[in-house]
Amino acid sequence: MIDLTINKTGLEHNIQKAKENNIIIPTFAQMQNPELIPGKILDRLQKAGLWDVDPVNLFRITWLNEAKEQGGLFQKVPNYVEIPSALSGVPCRIIAMAGKWFPTGCHKVGASFGCLAPRLVTGQFDTTYHHAVWPSTGNYCRGGAFNSKLLACDSVAILPQDMSRERFEWLQSIAGQVIATPGCESNVKEIFDKTWELKKDPTMMIFNQFSEMGNPLWHYNVTGTALATLFEAVKKPGDQFVGACFTSGSAGTMSAGDLLKERYPHLKLAVGEALQCPTILDNGFGGHRIEGIGDKHIPWVHNVKNTDMVIDIDDEDSQRLLRLFNTTEGQQYLREELHLEEEMIEKLTWLGISGIANVLCCIKMAKYYELGEHDVVGTVLTDSAVMYQSRTRELSEMYGEYTPVEAAKDHALHMLGLKTDHMLELTYPERKRVHNLKYYTWVEQQGMSVEDLNAQWYDTEHTWDAVHAQAKELDALIDAFNEETGLLKSL
Ligand SMILES: Cc1ncc(COP(=O)(O)O)c(C=O)c1O
Repeated sequence: MIDLTINKTGLEHNIQKAKENNIIIPTFAQMQNPELIPGKILDRLQKAGLWDVDPVNLFRITWLNEAKEQGGLFQKVPNYVEIPSALSGVPCRIIAMAGKWFPTGCHKVGASFGCLAPRLVTGQFDTTYHHAVWPSTGNYCRGGAFNSKLLACDSVAILPQDMSRERFEWLQSIAGQVIATPGCESNVKEIFDKTWELKKDPTMMIFNQFSEMGNPLWHYNVTGTALATLFEAVKKPGDQFVGACFTSGSAGTMSAGDLLKERYPHLKLAVGEALQCPTILDNGFGGHRIEGIGDKHIPWVHNVKNTDMVIDIDDEDSQRLLRLFNTTEGQQYLREELHLEEEMIEKLTWLGISGIANVLCCIKMAKYYELGEHDVVGTVLTDSAVMYQSRTRELSEMYGEYTPVEAAKDHALHMLGLKTDHMLELTYPERKRVHNLKYYTWVEQQGMSVEDLNAQWYDTEHTWDAVHAQAKELDALIDAFNEETGLLKSL
């Protein structure tokens, strides 16, 4: 459970700071249903850009933003891409919600809000004293630094030095401090070591997405609800929501699957990882190129007992498809050979590298369960290709000029040719084997208790269920906070 004990002094400071900076905090209910947002805030949003550093953009931490760079409001159904069968090679319907239309171009602003909000509205985090430290492999610390700025807090972003240029360049302009740790995507241990070093300074408050329950709380309530809304909006007579697949970085997104399994009890929930770092499948390790996922450990916030399947994706597949979807020649192939509409070709640029991997997981699941045209599998596109322009350039340098023939080969080999290899339907003991891996990271290294580890396995009601239900309690605290600043009343 998330500790919601009030620190009176910190809370008074935060209320004062919010007043000075005109900060109104959105509730989880508003993120699920933006129709609850007051009209005066909508007026302000109409004047604000999606990425503007303006506190009103806190209200855009939702899947229901209009797909607009400037002045967008909200819609009833999340932005999504339905992958055509001509592309996927499987008859089942694959629906993917797009993270591109969140501020920062990635849904991780939501996870970071979920981690920061509880400590802000309880006063445990004091904006006049603490710095918010965001350890991550990229997007979470981008989201954290962005939210910190909107909430007038100082921030420190920590990420591995080999992450894409785009991440660093943007962070330099938003975060108070940016720390690059050694290694690539999967070097999370180095990030943790840095946070222990920083923790010696009492002004540094760490928001570790891998262990903060605010992360799954946000995804269960906001992402899970949005995916269910999407399915209900697009389903045709006879359609069934049978599967959801999410590659795991912090495993926050996985908890959207917890909600979906409650609503659709037959749904299978799969976790994806890079074949080059097969920690869940094989207790394996290694570097890989699917940025944002797979960090050689099992995150504390992953509800492994509720995970039905693990699917590994070769990082070469996602790289090759990134090229297919984001080059003129690749798009020519999609248009002329697959006869995709222009709108679909444009929407395929909404898939970042991990988004492509998510879609590949859905295809492998579809092949494994032999899913048909009335079966629907859901996923998310965490960020978009905008974040990887430098990667596409690097691929051109590595592989030479792209041509429609290369595009056809990439499609055939890296998408249509996917097999049901490197995946596993998890039995009870296999799930337990994965869960037990948490011991080495979290109990041995990071100070968690064996009792809490066991509770995650044996006591769902007082662990996962209890955390998911805390959104209501948090909303009450957020309402009280906004009431104290008086800003809502004086809109
Ligand atoms: C691009 C990208 N994809 C996927 C993920 C994984 O999401 P989660 O941390 O919710 O497992 C992340 C996490 O930071 C990410 O940045």
